[in-house]
Amino acid sequence: MRRSIIAGNWKMNKTIPDGVALAGALSDDAAEFIDGCDVVLCPPFTAVKAVADRVAESGVDVGAQDVFWEASGAFTGEVSCEMLVDAGCSWVIIGHSERRAMFGETDDKVNKKMKAAIAAGLKPIICVGETLAQREEGSADEVVRRQVEGAFAGVSGDDASKAVVAYEPVWAIGTGRASTGEDANSMAGVIRDTLAKLYSGDVSEAVRIQYGGSVKPGNMAEFAQQPEVDGALVGGASLKAADFIGIITAMIDSKK
Ligand code: 13P
Repeated sequence: MRRSIIAGNWKMNKTIPDGVALAGALSDDAAEFIDGCDVVLCPPFTAVKAVADRVAESGVDVGAQDVFWEASGAFTGEVSCEMLVDAGCSWVIIGHSERRAMFGETDDKVNKKMKAAIAAGLKPIICVGETLAQREEGSADEVVRRQVEGAFAGVSGDDASKAVVAYEPVWAIGTGRASTGEDANSMAGVIRDTLAKLYSGDVSEAVRIQYGGSVKPGNMAEFAQQPEVDGALVGGASLKAADFIGIITAMIDSKK
């Protein structure tokens, strides 16, 4: 059975003191939920180290929201895998749709980042998902298949097993209009089928798949009850401790 995983993507929110306060509120309660679920906080780069120090020993993990694939050098504004590990990250989000839409992230770049992350011992959360236009024209499955194939190209089965894939339909992000549990489960099935064709049934069964897009404490159970969905990547609702804990609790209770 796959272990549940809830990650909070804080996006461009929280100063260092605000981030530490939120992380503290979560990690101080972690004993109540950490046995049932992996929990990952993904603050902006500036707050990563302080948040990692605050949650140390609690079992709560820290991730970054992006990374660059080169190890070091003249890459103004970029952050390397080694720097993330040094700052206390064990995870990194790669290929978020906001980066794809606004910052020129391509499947090829996602692939390079994934390989660099794995080589550095960081566990990647690979984001995939279709736009509303792609869903309406009936190409959602094909788009997501292509994104998964692009991300995992040349990655070994062993390494692939450690990755998490977050299915985040673009039209559901920050809109309050979440997918249905059934549609999320169906796309998680497409992702697993794609991985099974690239690797084997063992790998596709090992990879954990999250749903993301307007997840709230009140709708988490609908996703958590789906057999192919192993957790959530949460944006807005991860910025309040009570909401994020509500989501974690709904996940754990639904998988009991
Ligand atoms: P919301 O939960 O705010 O819709 O954001 C989802 C997301 O993009 C997480 O990466």
